[in-house]
Amino acid sequence: MSDEPIDDRAADHTADHTADDHADNRYAMFAQRYADEQIPWDTGITPPEIVTVVAELPTGRALDLGCGTGTNVRFLAQHGWQADGIDFVPLAIERARQKLADFPPGQAVAYCHDVTRLSELAALRPPYDLVVDIGCGHSLPLQTQPGYAQVIHDLLRPGGVFMLFSHQPSEERPGWTPDDVRRLFGPYFNIVWQVINDDTTTGRPSGWYRLVKPAEISG
Ligand SMILES: C[S@@+](CC[C@H](N)C(=O)[O-])C[C@H]1O[C@@H](n2cnc3c(N)ncnc32)[C@H](O)[C@@H]1O
Repeated sequence: MSDEPIDDRAADHTADHTADDHADNRYAMFAQRYADEQIPWDTGITPPEIVTVVAELPTGRALDLGCGTGTNVRFLAQHGWQADGIDFVPLAIERARQKLADFPPGQAVAYCHDVTRLSELAALRPPYDLVVDIGCGHSLPLQTQPGYAQVIHDLLRPGGVFMLFSHQPSEERPGWTPDDVRRLFGPYFNIVWQVINDDTTTGRPSGWYRLVKPAEISG
């Protein structure tokens, strides 16, 4: 469990982002959704795409970006991974910490923090073998997205896997098309697998992507 006080973190977020209306709006929207229990993504079920990758990979260190209430952090820890999760909504992190309370200290940790400021979270434990983003990155402010891609690259070990689920954009909501994913992440990763489909909870056109950070070339 992280010792980071949840309420202080929320206050920090607001203070640091007054100049960024988009970020503030997204934060307010997500915080309200959790407060109102309008969270259809919070199914308590780990997606089969994550189940498959966890069955294939040797256990290691994993990071879940936008972890919500910690369902997938808990799944990873149950399967022997040392797992960290990050979300900026205090209520989500409070619930995640409840779900993770039974694991040994350090095996499954939930941080209340903004994923666009990962380099400020000194408690992170890179290099990670697996990074997961299920529905978080696609709604980040546009100007933060290139930096987000680079930090994920920097946090992963060479050969590490990045599993990404993102909605496609619509008139009402932001999102990433497969071209957006290639443009943002292509400079850092090989996209080894992708499935374009409809989100099973919302019906929105979506994509799952498996990206691999190229191994270092020796010699
Ligand atoms: C669609 S939900 C998915 C939650 C979780 N991955 C799941 O599958 O249950 C997106 C999550 O990303 C979080 N999020 C969005 N922007 C964020 C940011 N800048 N920093 C941290 N978390 C963020 C939201 O609070 C929300 O919990």
